[in-house]
Amino acid sequence: MDLLAFLRYNKKESRVENMERLQKFLSRCGVASRRKAEEWIQEGKVTVNDVTVTQMGYQISEKDIVKVDNQIVQVLEKKYYAMNKPRYIISSVNDDKNRKTVVSILPEALQQEHLFPVGRLDYDTKGVLLLTNDGTFMNQLVGPRSTLEKEYIVRVQGIVTKLKIKKLENGLQIDNYRTRKCIAKIDSIDRKNQSTLVRIILQEGKYHQVKKMFAAIGHEVKRLTRIRFGNILIEGLKEGEIRPLSIHEIKQLYVLSQQDKEFETLKARKF
Ligand code: URA
Repeated sequence: MDLLAFLRYNKKESRVENMERLQKFLSRCGVASRRKAEEWIQEGKVTVNDVTVTQMGYQISEKDIVKVDNQIVQVLEKKYYAMNKPRYIISSVNDDKNRKTVVSILPEALQQEHLFPVGRLDYDTKGVLLLTNDGTFMNQLVGPRSTLEKEYIVRVQGIVTKLKIKKLENGLQIDNYRTRKCIAKIDSIDRKNQSTLVRIILQEGKYHQVKKMFAAIGHEVKRLTRIRFGNILIEGLKEGEIRPLSIHEIKQLYVLSQQDKEFETLKARKF
């Protein structure tokens, strides 16, 4: 066999075999994030064809039988939904204090789909939250390299000045971290009740980020609503309602999570 034929043969073979790293397979099946899967592998919880595998990056093919804690793991049909999360609901699958979660409030049939939230919204935040059983999709959208925009409407205590808006936009120190550039705009000022409504677009999503950013400029957040997650808007969804995403919306989310163009020329010079 000449070299070209050999390379062609090998390429064909690897396509037939469709090899994949074990931790990637587990996250693709929706049973865990890739990091969690790596922990399980290190802890010796994962077997391939009944042999425990602790080697990170171990390659498996479609023919292999993978088990976690002796339970067979299989590729699930991928599911993608958008929810308008109400306030006072936890953004997780279970809650150790038995409070309602974004999964426990789903219709019965959807509770069997192994869904988990794509990132988090605080207990007292409402708005757009995606749910999926696709770990790769989740990592792509909320991983550290994602540039996906999240847009919030924030009611804060006190009158926010334009100077403070600039501070938010230029990035500021919260905890041990400097926030990335963002876009913010005053929507309205309520002088009677001494509060301001601000619209803000972030490309990141650190823990309590919006609340901490406003705290850093001296304003307490009273109410927080996420009105957009990438291309997915809150419009058309009542509180607690859920709808499937279209193929087009899913593809677009992937594209948007890798796009920036200097934050779309600072959101076409502010919205
Ligand atoms: N930032 C916050 O502070 N809370 C949220 O729920 C989302 C973003």
